Amino acid sequence: MKALILVGGFGTRLRPLTLSVPKPLVDFANKPMILHQIEALKDVGVTEVVLAINYRPEVMLNFLKDFEDQLGIKITCSQETEPLGTAGPLALARDKLVDGSGEPFFVLNSDVISEYPFSQLIQFHKSHGCEATIMVTKVDEPSKYGVVVMEEETGKVERFVEKPKIFVGNKINAGIYLLNPSVLDRIELKPTSIEKEIFPKIASDQKLYAMVLPGFWMDIGQPRDYITGLRLYLDSLRKNSPSKLAKGVHIVGNVLVHESAVIGEGCLIGPDVAVGPGCVVEPGVRLSRCTVMRGVRIKKHACITSSIIGWHSTVGQWARIENMTILGEDVHVGDEVYSNGGVVLPHKEIKSSILKPEIVM
Ligand code: GDD
Ligand code: MG
Repeated sequence: MKALILVGGFGTRLRPLTLSVPKPLVDFANKPMILHQIEALKDVGVTEVVLAINYRPEVMLNFLKDFEDQLGIKITCSQETEPLGTAGPLALARDKLVDGSGEPFFVLNSDVISEYPFSQLIQFHKSHGCEATIMVTKVDEPSKYGVVVMEEETGKVERFVEKPKIFVGNKINAGIYLLNPSVLDRIELKPTSIEKEIFPKIASDQKLYAMVLPGFWMDIGQPRDYITGLRLYLDSLRKNSPSKLAKGVHIVGNVLVHESAVIGEGCLIGPDVAVGPGCVVEPGVRLSRCTVMRGVRIKKHACITSSIIGWHSTVGQWARIENMTILGEDVHVGDEVYSNGGVVLPHKEIKSSILKPEIVM
């Protein structure tokens, strides 16, 4: 089977992290977001992943080359010369996706995280025999997503409304699809939205089905959702593979510590923390609800909560970092500095406190 991952877009909502790498390569739970997806696709027998991309394909391909061999999966790019939206890229990649076997293919938004229940999706798709299946999930605030109204018993989709202004329902498009090749006959090679133009048509032909996604789900394309996503991801790890979580007197709740990271004496870490490869956490540090990416050094007695610390940054001793502070790559925060929601661009040095949420250029 094949899969296409939509990796276009500039990831502006996840700046400053996306100033260093394309959104799919931003680390989540100690590995690039897209690797979570590629590994799960590989597990259900996908042999080729096509990345639908509209800028800097070489960055992605260089990075993913190593994983092609490690995972034994083919990774190719389909590059747009202009952004083709969420459906146009499927038309562009047509020859890569269809091989005459008539098999369905996966399509994924690159920023969604879940347990990726792909084998259940395949089963359900086969059981109804129609053109397309989308996974849906319930959320409290449906207006920022695509909303799906479906027949409860069968899963047949009655309506698909992208980002509705008035309440339509609370089941939303999770950005994970299994599509028959015939769907490609509905898409022209031009900028097209699968959510606004294609799904509503398939639904009105009564050939679109939806399956409620078992387990957790999150679109991690924004800092707050990224941090919530990490909590949900670690909860699910606790249920399914608890041995991957850190243990010890200095750990509270669900924590992921990379094997190459060093944690000093007297730290208190957790809940809901990921400490990446090569990090050094000096003695007496307090970390909760945060992500500390590869190569970061946190100096003695610093305290970090609800924040993301970008690659190779340092946080000075007794510093206090909180309230959705996002440090870009290679940021250096001085001793005793306080950050209340600072969003700091890469390669900056922060010598004085950031007292209210603001962007530091
Ligand atoms: N190749 C390519 N070209 N990819 C694109 C383009 C483009 O022009 N525009 C967007 N994408 C990719 C993004 O990188 C992302 O992986 C995916 O398409 C969806 O775009 P987002 O910008 O993240 O959309 P959204 O989060 O507002 O809404 C979408 O996701 C929701 C679930 O998270 C929609 O599919 C909603 O219906 C859905 O509920
Ligand atoms: Mg998104």
